[in-house]
Amino acid sequence: MRITGAARLAGIMGWPVAHSRSPLLHGFWLDETGVDGAYVPLPVRPADIERALRALPVLGFRGCNLTIPHKQTALLVADHIDPLASRIGAVNTIVVAADGTLEASNTDVYGFRESLRGGAPEWSPAAGPAVVLGAGGSSRAVIAALGDAGVSEVHIVNRTPCRAEKVANDLATSAMRISVHSWNAASDLLDGAGLLVNTTSLGMTGEPPLDLDLVRLQRSAPVVDIVYVPLETGLLARARRRGHPVVDGLGMLLHQARPGFEAWFGAEVRVTPELRAAIVKTLAPAQ
Ligand code: ATR
Repeated sequence: MRITGAARLAGIMGWPVAHSRSPLLHGFWLDETGVDGAYVPLPVRPADIERALRALPVLGFRGCNLTIPHKQTALLVADHIDPLASRIGAVNTIVVAADGTLEASNTDVYGFRESLRGGAPEWSPAAGPAVVLGAGGSSRAVIAALGDAGVSEVHIVNRTPCRAEKVANDLATSAMRISVHSWNAASDLLDGAGLLVNTTSLGMTGEPPLDLDLVRLQRSAPVVDIVYVPLETGLLARARRRGHPVVDGLGMLLHQARPGFEAWFGAEVRVTPELRAAIVKTLAPAQ
């Protein structure tokens, strides 16, 4: 891929950032669309996030994505914050406006919604309460997406109850009740549930396994894992064997990238099997 002196620029700020799949993902779309642009890793230390974000318009960048540990702190720097992002308390996409101000949004909500829609098209928000494992930033995006989809009841299961209480306080609405539970209650909560989503790091390569007996979960209920290394987690493998629709974590990653790409580079893109295959190749364990 060649770029000219007029290339549009974007990137991803994180610390560390070397593990990020986003440069590959946006690079795939840049190649596909032929846009004169570049998307680069931007290793930014936590203490430098404000200076780095303020440098975007100075350097002519159209914007950037944010990953760990900047998703919360960027909220304090951005000039305009999308209401959904402020409700969630995290941003992952910055667009530099024409006047040089920084517009912040959270596209993880969109990413989760599209991934669920694509991976479990039969799912209905009226199928029963959703059980969400975890209460971190990803859990907040997932729960906000479930609220937008019309889910009326969410049960959060988390190791640290006060964290889950805070999520419940921040995201419950008159149309969506949220209750908080310990892991001991998890398998009982599956009785009658319409959806199960893991947002914890349990089951990720190098982390402890996620031990949850799915026997009480109705077989029509989709099981979603936002972990994508490995692509098929133990939870998803068990769910697949029981006949549940399963949705892996890669879909959310691919879909959340789309709004940023379109805003920075001005071309419409899609999440296709070819894109998925290109990223899956990079997730395979080293031979
Ligand atoms: P993210 O922003 O990706 O959601 P996070 O904010 O670090 O990441 O949240 C990680 C989630 O995984 C939390 O719900 C965390 O539980 P706590 O709130 O109790 O920390 C959960 N988690 C991580 N390791 C865990 C473990 N060993 N057992 C149980 N839960 C775990």
